[in-house]
Amino acid sequence: MISRSRRVSEKRDTARYHAIVDPIRNPYAPGAGQRPPALAGRDDQLQAFNVVLERVSRCKPERSIVLTGLRGVGKTVLLNALRSAAVRAHWGTGKLEARPGQRLRRPVSAALHVAVRELGHPQAQDVDQVLGVIKAFAQRESAPNARIRDRWNPGIDVPAVTGRADSGDIEIDLVELLTDVGGLAADVGRGVAIFIDEMQDLDPEDISALCAACHEISQSGLPLIVVGAGLPHPGGSERRQVLQRAAVQVLTHRQARPTCCRPGAAGARQGRGRGVPQGGP
Ligand SMILES: Nc1ncnc2c1ncn2[C@@H]1O[C@H](COP(=O)(O)OP(=O)(O)O)[C@@H](O)[C@H]1O
Ligand SMILES: [Mg+2]
Repeated sequence: MISRSRRVSEKRDTARYHAIVDPIRNPYAPGAGQRPPALAGRDDQLQAFNVVLERVSRCKPERSIVLTGLRGVGKTVLLNALRSAAVRAHWGTGKLEARPGQRLRRPVSAALHVAVRELGHPQAQDVDQVLGVIKAFAQRESAPNARIRDRWNPGIDVPAVTGRADSGDIEIDLVELLTDVGGLAADVGRGVAIFIDEMQDLDPEDISALCAACHEISQSGLPLIVVGAGLPHPGGSERRQVLQRAAVQVLTHRQARPTCCRPGAAGARQGRGRGVPQGGP
């Protein structure tokens, strides 16, 4: 039970806080992935990503991107900002959050379904063909002879295609799937980006297959990239493979401090600036 004196002291602290910080205009957005009113210190990453978008849409080779850093450093927020940049460039985008013990087929097919819809390809027949491949990829999670009602349906109305992305080998299937989605994007002169948060929770077999598939796709010059975000856990060989092949960006809290608060910056204040959000980067 909270004592009366503690409640009084908490009320007094809140009143004092409201006198210093306007609770409505307070720039701190508490909570994981909450978009801050101003994305501090990430201009370099955003500019570099715009270059990647432009290059990939012109079918120039680019590596996939991995944002890494400790929890709370701003990976999810930056990942979402990169997705917004891709949407502004009229790309097809989809996002998934990896969960421990969950395999890749369902969330990837759901994300690609969204991305294909966002692309707005004018040929309905071509779109349906690719949607059929996405469905086949998703449904291969169950055994090939599973009854229809036992197969997961990713909400795609067209029938699943047979003989494409449904071999059961995740690496082969991912290459076929991403090739077809990338081809659809190439037709309209734009790209597709898949954003994966909490990458450290991906299954090792899935991460290795995803890495191989991305490598293959970038070699064939198809406009499709994967942008991941995850903790910098030391991991097995699969994780090392990802970090070797991707363009890795290490995020720190220091980069995300507003310029006015950096030591030596014009107008910098001593110590922790008053009114500067504490707890976030
Ligand atoms: N560049 C930034 N500028 C201001 N606030 C930020 C920035 N990046 C993250 N934040 C804030 O920090 C908190 C944690 O960000 P989040 O993206 O969830 O971190 P992570 O995904 O690395 O754990 C959120 O409240 C968010 O609003
Ligand atoms: Mg996060």
